[in-house]
Amino acid sequence: MHPHRRFKFSSIDDLRTALDNMGIFLPLSDDTDILKQPLQIYKKRIPNRMITHPMEGVDGDGQGRPGDLTRRRYIRFAEGGAGLIWFEATAVVNEGRANPRQLLLTRETATYFRAMLQNTLKVSNNIFGSDNQPYTVLQLTHSGRYSVPFSKPQPIVAATNPFLDAKTSATKRIITDEELEELEDRFVEAALLASEIGFDAVDIKSCHRYLLSELLSAYTREGLYGGSFENRTRFLINVIDKIHAQPACKVDVAVRMNAHDSIPYPYGWGVKEDNYRQVEVSEPIRLAKLLRDRGVELINISAGNPYYNPHVGRPYDFGPYVPKENQLYSVERILGLARDIQAAVPEAAIVATGFSWLREFGAACAAGGIREGWFQLAGFGRQAFAYPDFAKDIIDHGKLDRKKCCIACGKCTELMRLGGGCGCVIQDAEVYRPIYKKLKEGQPSMVGKEVAEHV
Ligand SMILES: Cc1cc2nc3c(=O)[nH]c(=O)nc-3n(C[C@H](O)[C@H](O)[C@H](O)COP(=O)(O)O)c2cc1C
Repeated sequence: MHPHRRFKFSSIDDLRTALDNMGIFLPLSDDTDILKQPLQIYKKRIPNRMITHPMEGVDGDGQGRPGDLTRRRYIRFAEGGAGLIWFEATAVVNEGRANPRQLLLTRETATYFRAMLQNTLKVSNNIFGSDNQPYTVLQLTHSGRYSVPFSKPQPIVAATNPFLDAKTSATKRIITDEELEELEDRFVEAALLASEIGFDAVDIKSCHRYLLSELLSAYTREGLYGGSFENRTRFLINVIDKIHAQPACKVDVAVRMNAHDSIPYPYGWGVKEDNYRQVEVSEPIRLAKLLRDRGVELINISAGNPYYNPHVGRPYDFGPYVPKENQLYSVERILGLARDIQAAVPEAAIVATGFSWLREFGAACAAGGIREGWFQLAGFGRQAFAYPDFAKDIIDHGKLDRKKCCIACGKCTELMRLGGGCGCVIQDAEVYRPIYKKLKEGQPSMVGKEVAEHV
């Protein structure tokens, strides 16, 4: 096994050699033109194949409304020219907020979301013209076991989980079937609001082990929402059906889902029963087919749990622990999930995750993956924080500039955990470095901390 190490590739040929030595295949294309091609979904046009992933900034105003830095983020994304802007995790109920500054969509806050969306689209229109408007998705969430609506964690869990329960001493409440049924309606209400506001789509967030993601693995839960595949997917499917049953709801429905939790079975999803580090994609594929049958044309594939095993979903150089595996294996695994699901549901547009750690070579990998049919859209997360113009540079110059790239240093996440909002401390230093420095005073540095992986 090749160890975890800092990114060291000075050319794409260096990267190709390392991949060969490690027996890994990543689709790399020197020609990135395919990323400029539009894509038709839900009878709408996405002007190019690059998307900004949902990236929470933890910078709402405390009342669930976007704050100044939230609005700034989406203006920067609009200026960056990605064909699809996937707006960040937005809670549908207060108790399901991941932090007190997470966005919350209600009748009271809807006006502020409308202003943010309109401003974002205006900026894009002024630069790229009305034919190149980004498709917009709003991610709707309940944070489940990671709910921190006020200052302290108030976990609401789908099922007990010996691996995740041990991580916090806060009292966990198992959500009842009746509460889940009611919560489905809160998602529908939020979708109706998103439709009135003018978003093209809502995403019923089912990833990263927040509540809906946890339900997918609720093998040990009893009742209507646990045990069988049908029960574990019931919440998500009910929400979609209920949204579709609302004539006034004009938004498309998209889903961001985990296809591999990397948590031992029967507490993790998309894992082999005898080896949770290995992918078992049959249930995620079954779900993707169900979604397709319900008219879901946009599925964003992710993996892992940012609180428990962050290297799985966002390979890094520096983070809370040193993973056992080299980052290229993590990239291969997460892109492979998109490939397997795209092959099973060719009618849907699969969004892949996993490009930021590759720095400028993320462009070649995104283009190669689309060329090889692994996925149809390439999503950039931390890269969008660091380098919001990434799509524009690929469109104008065919490549990314290493100097502007995300360096996977983990500071955006660290800043978030310190309560300082979230952005790129390195490339957006004017705004985020002073906040980071102030919060770090007297704190031990996470960077370079040699803690072994705990799982
Ligand atoms: C600070 C931060 C905030 C994030 N917020 C969200 C979010 O709101 N919703 C979501 O689905 N994923 C979120 N993610 C995960 C990213 O969308 C993405 O999946 C992850 O960073 C891996 O992609 P990358 O390698 O391009 O960064 C977040 C990640 C980070 C680092």
